[in-house]
Amino acid sequence: MRASPSASSAERWANALAEWAIPPEILARAPASPWEFPPGILERRADRAATRRTPSDRVAAAALPAAGAVLDVGCGAGAASLPLAGRASLLAGVDVDTRALGEFRGRVEAAGVRAVTVEGRWPDVAGRVPQVDVAVCHHVAYNVPGLPAFARRLTEKARSRVVLELTLVHPRAHLNGLWLHFHGLARPDRPTADDAEAVLREAGLEVERQDWTPSEPSTWFETLEEAAGWTARALCLTGERLGELTRLIEPDLLRLDGMVAQAPRPRATIWWKGEAR
Ligand SMILES: C[S@@+](CC[C@H](N)C(=O)[O-])C[C@H]1O[C@@H](n2cnc3c(N)ncnc32)[C@H](O)[C@@H]1O
Repeated sequence: MRASPSASSAERWANALAEWAIPPEILARAPASPWEFPPGILERRADRAATRRTPSDRVAAAALPAAGAVLDVGCGAGAASLPLAGRASLLAGVDVDTRALGEFRGRVEAAGVRAVTVEGRWPDVAGRVPQVDVAVCHHVAYNVPGLPAFARRLTEKARSRVVLELTLVHPRAHLNGLWLHFHGLARPDRPTADDAEAVLREAGLEVERQDWTPSEPSTWFETLEEAAGWTARALCLTGERLGELTRLIEPDLLRLDGMVAQAPRPRATIWWKGEAR
């Protein structure tokens, strides 16, 4: 459903996300859920993130007192919060995915920091989560139709700052040409990070923002076959199209450190003041 021009930014955001729904007849033939992350991707991202500092990490660290507490919502394996482990005494992770939470806990404890994990959907589980100094939330916003309430609960949990990172365009937009090729289906190009910023401002948050392009990829594969398998899954393709798909994606993949990676995509760090007391 297209939002009317008079709709609020929040309504336009939710409507634009709804347009990303995959047609039921395609979904019914999909061999596996196209939206879930198979093991490996979020883990590699977290392991590499733990050794580097990005603009989001610096914005979060600047608001984190020594031995402070961090909340990571949609934590995956911990890419957003592990870079803060050296300064934190507690990292709390929230995720709907049990396996990801186990990966998060293992990495936080290996870094010598206390881990708290809460399984469930933010903001529904906010009542089970401790107050913290800094809340981080990376690459989750495009999953969240109810962004104002989601952001408000983050604001209520953080004493100092909330840091939200997202790609400038939808993280699956780079597959739009392949959707057209394999399914004859035009995919949406909204919402964007500009739309997210408008929703947050409309919700009364005084946000700051920095746009940047990572110096290294955030999606890594062991092999070309793994990259093709993941892309096939995201496109709801079955095995017989794998060869054709591999030929189409290979030219755009990078070969680095003995691995295969997707080229880094521009992103925004958006942050605002926490209100927990
Ligand atoms: C793209 S991954 C990003 C993981 C991690 N933040 C990172 O930057 O690597 C999104 C994660 O958010 C989780 N997720 C999505 N919506 C959520 C919600 N409303 N509440 C909790 N977890 C959510 C997913 O299960 C997934 O682990």
